[in-house]
Amino acid sequence: MISLENKIILITGASRGIGEEIVRRLSKERANLALIARDAKRLKELKEELEKENTNVFTLPIDLREKNAPRIVVGEVIKYFGKLDILINNAGTALSKPLIETSEEEWDEIMTINAKVPYFLCKYAIPYLKNSEIPTIINISSVVGYKGYVNQSAYTASKHALHGFTKVLAQEVYEYGIRVHLISPGGVATDLVNKVRPDLQKASLIQPFEIAEIIVFLLKFRNNAVIDEIQIRRKDNIPWR
Ligand SMILES: NC(=O)c1ccc[n+]([C@@H]2O[C@H](COP(=O)([O-])OP(=O)(O)OC[C@H]3O[C@@H](n4cnc5c(N)ncnc54)[C@H](OP(=O)(O)O)[C@@H]3O)[C@@H](O)[C@H]2O)c1
Repeated sequence: MISLENKIILITGASRGIGEEIVRRLSKERANLALIARDAKRLKELKEELEKENTNVFTLPIDLREKNAPRIVVGEVIKYFGKLDILINNAGTALSKPLIETSEEEWDEIMTINAKVPYFLCKYAIPYLKNSEIPTIINISSVVGYKGYVNQSAYTASKHALHGFTKVLAQEVYEYGIRVHLISPGGVATDLVNKVRPDLQKASLIQPFEIAEIIVFLLKFRNNAVIDEIQIRRKDNIPWR
């Protein structure tokens, strides 16, 4: 297991849900963290909390839908820390609606946050990751990245897009030693699942800390065996369905 101490880690969607738990867990590893989300108040509170544990935290409140947001995010993180070791594309949004009722604006928003933004964050991060000793990209996808669920056509399309470019990117950056991992969880107890799957039993939802633990393992387990994708199901779901 390698150490993450003083490594520079950029995490999108850091203000709540899975992202917030990843941030808390990485703080325990003594990593330096760049937190990205819109909610400036929440980011400030999180920064103050983590700084009490001596974690070096940079926050950038930004709406990732803004034009050039990925370029701005990477530029600001480099301005603050001078380097980048790990990119975690976690920010995401979902929608529960039949295709026939989905508007062009809703399609654009979901494809932008879930597919376009991670794509361009990778593009702008890669030149810096090439200089790292442990260059890593983690893309947080979903079971909808390889399955199809009724009323989630736009969300499903966006995560299929994320899967698609991740497979190609992993090969394109292989020669630089950059590892690209895809994580595909089922229902996790966050605002997002409450919005799109209120029918799921709360008690069987995956807890955000469980995803955070898996991510820390992925990052620290840097040996000869490489994990390209992790699929994670709720305990109530039958395996392989
Ligand atoms: N929860 C699940 O069941 C589940 C299952 C599989 C995969 N996932 C994936 O896991 C990731 C995290 O989801 P979650 O469940 O933690 O969702 P969440 O609790 O709703 O959090 C979403 C995060 O993304 C950020 N975000 C959303 N829109 C943004 C925008 N326009 N600009 C900047 N930041 C934005 C939010 O921050 P602000 O609101 O502060 O901007 C927030 O920090 C997503 O990619 C999701 O698809 C979730």
